[in-house]
Amino acid sequence: MGANPLTILGIETSCDETAAAIVRGVPPGPGTILSNVVLGQIAEHSPYGGVVPEIAARAHVEVLDDIVARALDEAGLGLADVDGIAATAGPGLIGGVMVGLVSAKALALAAGKPLIAVNHLEAHALSARLALGCEFPFLLLLISGGHCQLMAAEGVGRYRLYGATIDDAVGEAFDKTAKLLGLPYPGGPQIEALARTGRARRYALPRPMLGREGADFSFSGLKTAVRQIVREGTLGAQDKADLAASFQAAVVDVLADRIRAAMQIFRTEFGKENGTRRFVAAGGVAANSAIRKMLDTLCGAEGFVLSLPPPALCTDNGAMVAWAGLERLSLGLSDPLDAAPRARWPLQQADEPVQNTISRLGELAGL
Ligand code: KG4
Ligand code: ZN
Repeated sequence: MGANPLTILGIETSCDETAAAIVRGVPPGPGTILSNVVLGQIAEHSPYGGVVPEIAARAHVEVLDDIVARALDEAGLGLADVDGIAATAGPGLIGGVMVGLVSAKALALAAGKPLIAVNHLEAHALSARLALGCEFPFLLLLISGGHCQLMAAEGVGRYRLYGATIDDAVGEAFDKTAKLLGLPYPGGPQIEALARTGRARRYALPRPMLGREGADFSFSGLKTAVRQIVREGTLGAQDKADLAASFQAAVVDVLADRIRAAMQIFRTEFGKENGTRRFVAAGGVAANSAIRKMLDTLCGAEGFVLSLPPPALCTDNGAMVAWAGLERLSLGLSDPLDAAPRARWPLQQADEPVQNTISRLGELAGL
């Protein structure tokens, strides 16, 4: 490969993880993770059963400088040694996004380095290239706390939506089900652990959208069915484990069906272009081992090569943000120091330049 590797500092503060990392590499990867520091805020949020935006933003402010210093330290580098500074600019909880983006701007200004305003969903989308190195195009399943989408990833900033949830995101369904079972936040890992000792056939839960045309998802009916069972009577420990296992099995079935539909669309659209058909899963829920096992079997049966980042790169982290910044900077893309944070920023618009703060404020004010 001719290109010189770039070294990027990445900052992630869009939800309840304060994270910073240094990554080095050349697209299409794999990249080298020189450091990857992630500090969760579970203790701060757990009394409330979910993430409280104001608490999250404040917690990011309190620790971010230290997390960035640790990331540089562990990589054995100073700011002068990096080629650019990337931060999540959205979508996410706006207070937290502002904390990370403003810090990145200050560091970029002080060190005279380019700023790269990263779309958090694109950071998830490209995490398989960071971890394993894989070429475009690929079929992407993005499953996190706020998102559930199937799309074709054609290139950096180029995504074609095949299907999305029409109500809850799958991570949200895990978190709400966990709450109903009296488990702490975040619910995904808790449900996964509990399901290990449960019987998945015990409760007949619905499989919303199964066999439906297109590749959209729905999870609210599943959550409602769980709520109904919880209301009907007192659940003992084994009942709870059975319900967790039954819920997880329903999610696995729904995902498999919707992915199969998307694979059919992908085959039609990319059949001739590419000998290898590739499938990538990303986002926090892709850390789930039952889902990972299903993906392995499904890809084998459908003739797709599965590229799955390790669990630690599925849940929010700074390395994926650094890598997305690295991919963009490699293409000559960087952002102005007045780039605006965005609460909403669909991945299909990842390539639209981030607006500057003044025009964004005008938009917010209805000007
Ligand atoms: O990507 P992520 O860390 O943050 C967002 O961008 O949303 O995803 C967080 C979501 C939460 O809903 C969490 O419960 C879920 O991912 N999650 C899991 C697992 N680990 C995290 N869901 C199921 N099984 C897991 N092992
Ligand atoms: Zn995320």
